[in-house]
Amino acid sequence: MSSPQPPLSSSIADLRKSYERAELGEDASHADPLAQFDQWLREAIAAQVPEPNAMTLATVGADQRPSTRVVLIKGYDERGIAWYTNYDSRKGRELAANPFAALQFHWIELERVVRIEGQVEKVDASESDAYFHSRPLDSRIGAWASPQSQVISGRGVLVANAAKYGAQFLLQPPRPPHWGGFRLKPDRWEFWQGRKSRLHDRLRYRLGGGLWVRERLAP
Ligand SMILES: Cc1cc2nc3c(=O)[nH]c(=O)nc-3n(C[C@H](O)[C@H](O)[C@H](O)COP(=O)(O)O)c2cc1C
Repeated sequence: MSSPQPPLSSSIADLRKSYERAELGEDASHADPLAQFDQWLREAIAAQVPEPNAMTLATVGADQRPSTRVVLIKGYDERGIAWYTNYDSRKGRELAANPFAALQFHWIELERVVRIEGQVEKVDASESDAYFHSRPLDSRIGAWASPQSQVISGRGVLVANAAKYGAQFLLQPPRPPHWGGFRLKPDRWEFWQGRKSRLHDRLRYRLGGGLWVRERLAP
């Protein structure tokens, strides 16, 4: 018999870590936040952080309630940050009602967080088509088979849908009209680097007069 465990609430309150891996100074950071993001994402990939391309997406629907979920970044450039999803999903409906969103990467092994905010629009149909057709066949069938975010009676619905659409489209499923990309155009970025004694580095970039203004925030 194992001895009784202490109540979780007290032991979880004692979990804490000192962040000492790196620092982020004004002199060592890029003037352009996209360049800073590009550097940090490359470093996360090089460090073999698990799923370095996974980001939390926060939206707020017409009911004013925020909601979050994880999606994968599929492109970034001066136009913004792109991901792909079902336009009829909860996130898709919330973005249709309110196009402002926030993204967050947490690269825990590097003690780094990136936060990005801005307005979202749909990716052009031709670009969504190109990405859709680059996906593996089972993912393309899956986009048809899953009525994302809707209540279903059981897994059998998905299996039956996948079989049905697989037979219907064979090797050439077209992009579903309800599936495609979104792109967030950043007007605010924050780069957070954990530091010792909770004196973390936070550099925030905001657009002022069409230029990026870089400011340090208190941790
Ligand atoms: C690592 C990871 C990556 C994911 N990537 C995506 C994605 O790129 N697109 C997507 O629609 N859902 C993705 N999901 C599933 C979403 O987190 C979520 O369950 C789904 O999109 C439904 O969210 P919603 O009901 O808020 O719209 C991913 C989940 C995980 C854990």
